[in-house]
Amino acid sequence: MQVKKFGKTGLLVSELCLGTMTFGWQADEGTSHEILDRFTGNGGIFIDTADVYSEGRSEEIIGRWLKGRDRESVVIATKARFRTEKHPNGVGLSRKHLISAVNASLKRLSTDYIDILQVHAWDPLTPLEETFGTLNSLVEEGLIRYIGVSNYRAWQFEKALQLCRSRGWHEPVSIQPHYNVIVRATEFEILPMALAENIAVMPWSPLAGGVLTGKYADGISRAIKGTRIGDSSTPEYYRGLENERTSRILSLLSRISGETGKTMAQVALNWVISNPAVTAPIIGARNVKQLEDNLGSVGWKLTEEQMSEINNTSRMDVTYPYDQRAEDQQQRDRTLT
Ligand SMILES: NC(=O)c1ccc[n+]([C@@H]2O[C@H](COP(=O)([O-])OP(=O)(O)OC[C@H]3O[C@@H](n4cnc5c(N)ncnc54)[C@H](OP(=O)(O)O)[C@@H]3O)[C@@H](O)[C@H]2O)c1
Repeated sequence: MQVKKFGKTGLLVSELCLGTMTFGWQADEGTSHEILDRFTGNGGIFIDTADVYSEGRSEEIIGRWLKGRDRESVVIATKARFRTEKHPNGVGLSRKHLISAVNASLKRLSTDYIDILQVHAWDPLTPLEETFGTLNSLVEEGLIRYIGVSNYRAWQFEKALQLCRSRGWHEPVSIQPHYNVIVRATEFEILPMALAENIAVMPWSPLAGGVLTGKYADGISRAIKGTRIGDSSTPEYYRGLENERTSRILSLLSRISGETGKTMAQVALNWVISNPAVTAPIIGARNVKQLEDNLGSVGWKLTEEQMSEINNTSRMDVTYPYDQRAEDQQQRDRTLT
């Protein structure tokens, strides 16, 4: 696995990030440790978790795995924002909750610093000054190394970035958006912004929760127990992905899988990795077999023809100025002047 620069920072991360949302949930501690061993054994150094995954058990499992290992050799990203306590301040991006969330994560991870602390989502209640001022102090105190965000819209990220610049604070350096061959709205604002500002991008659900592996051949709504979708508490979300466009995408991925000798998961992940705005997709696995499959997504490239076929088949319905016509027109205008 290769390493890449984490956006504009000097930090290096592996080109795949290991997601740990399954730890303490679909993967027990033994399996989670095997997944971590196999990932790092293959050159992976980048791990993503969150304080709320399995009510903190994901961080605890990583913390126990870290014991006796070289903490410096891995880059750990976690998140804070969602509810961890029942009381009114047990949620959000206030100074009070952020500081207690970071202290609790440090304890569970058995470490004295977090490499990347990401705000898990926008908080409409807390002023940005309070959140980013607190994050700045946490960097200054040495409790966190870098600031990242997740699930922000591009305007929200820019607002935070410009605030930090105007105050001389440590800036957010990464964004973690929802992005895969089915969910491409991220390309309208977030990815161009990330390229323009040199922001690191870590897409989550790069396999659409497993749909892009082709495992739901009988239909997403027929998903059986023991799978993410079969056990989901929000099955309606996944059922919403069941449509003609998804079927076309899956048929194409299956055909390209046959042509390349790669699995559908590897083809879908390679498409995400090939985007120049993407730093490292976050791969999820419930067992070592799935992880091994997903690790095979690097070290090769889809051809230009395969890329454009996937792009065309999965194109979302958009209007000017988000469509190709606008880009072509802008390009033509610049060529003439
Ligand atoms: N910031 C956020 O709001 C946010 C949200 C979601 C996730 N995340 C992060 O992103 C990571 C990845 O998200 P995700 O788990 O949704 O990713 P994903 O890759 O879209 O889905 C992973 C799931 O797909 C199935 N799967 C994966 N590889 C497979 C393979 N090779 N063959 C067959 N099935 C396979 C497994 O589920 P089954 O075996 O159950 O089918 C696995 O748990 C998470 O661990 C977390 O770190 C962040």
